[in-house]
Amino acid sequence: MTTSNPFTAAARGLYGLEGKRILVTGASQGIGRAVALSCAEAGAQLVLTGRDAQRLQSVVDSLASTGHQALPVDLTDMSALRQLVVDCGLVDGVVHSAGIRGLSPMKMVGDGFLREVMETNYIAPMVLTRQLLSRSAIRAGGSILFLSSIAALTGTVGLGPYAGSKAALIGTMRPLALELSKRGIRANALAPGIVQTPLTTIDADWFDAIRKRYPLDVGQTEDVAWACLFFLSDASKKVTGTVFSLDGGVEYT
Ligand SMILES: NC(=O)c1ccc[n+]([C@@H]2O[C@H](COP(=O)([O-])OP(=O)(O)OC[C@H]3O[C@@H](n4cnc5c(N)ncnc54)[C@H](OP(=O)(O)O)[C@@H]3O)[C@@H](O)[C@H]2O)c1
Repeated sequence: MTTSNPFTAAARGLYGLEGKRILVTGASQGIGRAVALSCAEAGAQLVLTGRDAQRLQSVVDSLASTGHQALPVDLTDMSALRQLVVDCGLVDGVVHSAGIRGLSPMKMVGDGFLREVMETNYIAPMVLTRQLLSRSAIRAGGSILFLSSIAALTGTVGLGPYAGSKAALIGTMRPLALELSKRGIRANALAPGIVQTPLTTIDADWFDAIRKRYPLDVGQTEDVAWACLFFLSDASKKVTGTVFSLDGGVEYT
């Protein structure tokens, strides 16, 4: 008698994204770009968004396969965001990677910056998610991934507004996951430590100093992309409501 081997399915693409359509925000550079490249290699069809139309198109042009879409949008513009949802159609996965960061000790933080960080990092992904759900644009079996940060889980001097916006994502992701499980849709968050991107390397001295604190070294964009592949694929079909840390072994203070 032959017994079926459940791992044969993995070899046939359980970890792949063949036939899936994935929306990636912040895809014009950094982590979002790496997520786009990895998803395309795994067989997904992509809808990519970011503000810079030229950089976004060059990401689409660099993908191995064809049939992907670039939809440039400022996600803090609510009418543009609603149009994005109309234009993007049905999807099986969403990676909310668009985000901004800025050093701002709480004593000096400006109202404008506080609003901008919350609007970009928290309100935009939540409104986008709500719009997609209200149009039933995320298919059953779908997966929503929020790019949070270890800043949401630990204290970092000068990162109050950013950390708050990333903690808010986690706070909302958990009830969302419970609400969506009835529709067969999952929601999870990734919490990377420092990843080497344009966002973190503006101040080279700061970056070099912080790098020394990471026993496994700071992350590269592809490290986050590998995790995204798992959470978007059917290999994680029972995983929802979780926060997955990719912190390179850094000691929290
Ligand atoms: N890098 C890290 O160390 C790290 C660690 C933990 C978490 N994260 C999180 O991971 C995500 C990606 O970070 P990253 O390092 O890849 O950042 P990045 O290189 O600066 O890229 C940010 C992306 O977000 C897009 N974006 C920003 N504001 C937008 C807006 N209003 N509307 C539409 N798109 C907007 C940018 O688009 P345009 O350039 O086209 O304007 C860009 O594609 C962020 O949410 C970040 O907080 C990063």
